[in-house]
Amino acid sequence: MAISTITFLGATLTFTFGVVNAQSPFSIDTDEDIRRSAALLAHDTTAFYTGNQTGQTPGILPGPPPQGDYYWWQGGALWGTLMDYWFLTGDSSYNDVVMQAMLFQVGENKDYQPRNVTASLGNDDQAFWGMSAMLAAELNFPNPPSDQPQWLALAQAVFNTQADPERHDNECGGGLRWQITRTNNGFDYKNTIANGCFFNMGARLARYTGNETYSKLAEETWDWIQGVGYITDEWDVYDGGHIGHNCTDINKLQYSYNAAVLIQGAAFMWNITEDQIWKDRINGLVDRTIELFFRDDGVAYEISCEPKYTCSTDMYSYKGYTHRWLAQSSQVAPFIRDKVMPILKSSAKGAISQCTGGDNGRECGFAWSSGKFDGKIGAGQEMSALAAVSSLLTDPSKGPVTADKGGTSKGDPNAGSHSTDNLELRPITTADRVGAGILTTLLLAGATGTFGWMIWEPSLNWRA
Ligand SMILES: *[C@@H]1O[C@H](CO)[C@@H](O)[C@H](O)[C@H]1NC(C)=O
Ligand SMILES: *[C@@H]1O[C@H](CO)[C@@H](O)[C@H](O)[C@H]1NC(C)=O
Ligand SMILES: *[C@@H]1O[C@H](CO)[C@@H](O)[C@H](O)[C@H]1NC(C)=O
Ligand SMILES: *[C@@H]1O[C@H](CO)[C@@H](O)[C@H](O)[C@H]1NC(C)=O
Ligand SMILES: *[C@@H]1O[C@H](CO)[C@@H](O)[C@H](O)[C@H]1NC(C)=O
Repeated sequence: MAISTITFLGATLTFTFGVVNAQSPFSIDTDEDIRRSAALLAHDTTAFYTGNQTGQTPGILPGPPPQGDYYWWQGGALWGTLMDYWFLTGDSSYNDVVMQAMLFQVGENKDYQPRNVTASLGNDDQAFWGMSAMLAAELNFPNPPSDQPQWLALAQAVFNTQADPERHDNECGGGLRWQITRTNNGFDYKNTIANGCFFNMGARLARYTGNETYSKLAEETWDWIQGVGYITDEWDVYDGGHIGHNCTDINKLQYSYNAAVLIQGAAFMWNITEDQIWKDRINGLVDRTIELFFRDDGVAYEISCEPKYTCSTDMYSYKGYTHRWLAQSSQVAPFIRDKVMPILKSSAKGAISQCTGGDNGRECGFAWSSGKFDGKIGAGQEMSALAAVSSLLTDPSKGPVTADKGGTSKGDPNAGSHSTDNLELRPITTADRVGAGILTTLLLAGATGTFGWMIWEPSLNWRA
């Protein structure tokens, strides 16, 4: 078949001619097909990573903008996706790359706040690395050499730095701010993802260690998110609000990963407590998530950006987290398995149906329910498809381990306590300012409920 690529207004469009009966290399019919398909997707996902090459920085995808497309946090997300890939398929080809990456970025205080990124660090950014460290402990991913920080201790360090009273002021009645650094735009925004990640880590640390301090903080955080109105009675999950308005200027955009990070945390809370209240919350959120984000066709659809083709580089990765976190929730809250797993399967089928792009003719876009490649490849799109396909191998009997039952990762309850929150270690650069300025515009527009901005700039990064 002949493929020709032209560049049009900065976007690369690939036209494929004469493909009538092209055989897709992807199938999810049998476990063997899923493994083979996931292997190709893992290969194509890691092809975006150059951090392990000479002269490059291990752990990060090319970036941050303008040096490359990707922000620091997405590296952390990628390594978690590849840990899952290893666990689900048994293919350990990438484990060394994952290990090197996860350890290179721990930072001076071993809490995932490396000096290079502190000027633009959000609580959610740090937490994406922390959640991957937590996952490593839960999956019994190979432990780091003993002279290196250990997975559980790293997750505890991230949680502890975020639990510090310094990060929990009384604006809006509590909660974490989005940004950590005072001078960053977004420091005045308290949002669902920052607090949802903290809640998620707390619930998981509580289950792994049996320490109730974590579940208490997780519960308080849930109560705050719900109390401030980011989770509604109809189980809609909104993005956040500003402290200047006591967080009542709610930005009502809905993203699948916000709901999914809460579902997974709630599923762990259920697993620990077996309290009906968590069961009800999980059922409410799961039903609404399926209704909103998987619509009639059972294929993931990012409702706040897909309709107008305004998804950012960050957003291209959201479907992957949603698939992974729902699959893992079905292990610790098995009562959702029968409604979740069939949807994840129909959605994965949608995902692979449009993986016909790029030079190799098998790269994925983001318009899963259209069945057609949308013309844009990237690490986020590829990682989302990888997550969707590999999650189908989730085994109900192989749930996350705990310290008592199978876990081998060494913890340190006091990890992160020597970290300083005086993160303004590096002067703010022009690039930081540009990124932050764009963000403010987005936040203001989103807060007033205006969707107009989506039209004028399709490739902005919502998060930083
Ligand atoms: C870097 O990692 C990729 C997998 O992501 C691997 O194929 C490649 O061999 C590695 N390169 C080096 C120099 O280690
Ligand atoms: C920080 O940036 C410098 C310069 O690019 C690089 O050499 C170093 O490896 C980076 N450190 C981390 C932890 O990314
Ligand atoms: C601000 O919001 C919090 C949380 O919703 C609420 O408890 C508090 O009463 C509000 N304060 C004012 C002055 O409205
Ligand atoms: C808690 O999770 C484990 C591991 O996946 C699972 O076997 C168990 O059934 C769960 N407990 C409850 C009460 O759902
Ligand atoms: C439980 O966690 C808290 C918070 O990190 C810590 O201060 C405490 O020492 C832990 N308790 C045990 C028994 O490990």
